Amino acid sequence: MNRINNSDIVIETQRLNLRFLRPDDVDDLLEYQSHPEIVRYIPWPERTRDQVEEALQKTINTGARELKNTGDFFVLAWELKDLGESQSSGSSKNAKTVATKGYRPGKVIGQSNMSLRSTHDQLSDIGWVTHQDFQRQGFAYEATHALMAYAFKNFPLHRIVADIDTRNPESAAMAEKLGMRREGEFKDAEFFKGAWCDMWLYAILKAEFQA
Ligand SMILES: CC(C)(COP(=O)(O)OP(=O)(O)OC[C@H]1O[C@@H](n2cnc3c(N)ncnc32)[C@H](O)[C@@H]1OP(=O)(O)O)[C@@H](O)C(=O)NCCC(=O)NCCS
Repeated sequence: MNRINNSDIVIETQRLNLRFLRPDDVDDLLEYQSHPEIVRYIPWPERTRDQVEEALQKTINTGARELKNTGDFFVLAWELKDLGESQSSGSSKNAKTVATKGYRPGKVIGQSNMSLRSTHDQLSDIGWVTHQDFQRQGFAYEATHALMAYAFKNFPLHRIVADIDTRNPESAAMAEKLGMRREGEFKDAEFFKGAWCDMWLYAILKAEFQA
């Protein structure tokens, strides 16, 4: 179920609420934004608490609430819902569960980033990050699929793209699971953290997206 709540986008999935960032998210964000494996292929340093606070404040101050004009961007936090007994028991055969380690309802365990590259071309990019202790549990797919469905429905988008470092096949597999197509490989496309790197371009059209 999706709803507009106090002008925040809130997208509800089976295990997550996707909402805008808040100042009190700093400790949860620090856990993964400071982790070397998490930031290896994303354009952040291993952030200190001060750097997390600074980036968070900047996003709160300058982030958009919708994708309307070229350059609009937003970040949505993936907040764990209260799953009660089902969070660790796996008692229901089909229920998706959450590993017990670090589980806390309300905890932010990842984020989605979207920005509108061109209003004229109805083109947006998208990114995803899952906290190191919550990977391989389907969270990135669950959050991103729901966000894509929301974005194609609510914003004037024809196409969504993701730029993925070729050294990050896990992320490419995630894009493919979402139905995105690898459209090209660009050699030495970015000078990133001290080295030239090759980039894959992944894309999906609104008409192709399976809601
Ligand atoms: C990429 C990333 C977001 C995946 O998050 P996740 O929550 O573990 O992903 P999911 O559990 O939803 O997995 C979805 C699909 O992604 C692929 N995938 C994710 N992790 C993978 C891994 N370690 N190895 C191979 N495939 C992987 C699989 O296709 C998986 O589907 P499956 O479970 O049916 O096999 C996570 O590894 C991450 O945060 N990496 C660091 C940040 C980053 O590099 N972000 C992307 C920048 S482009």
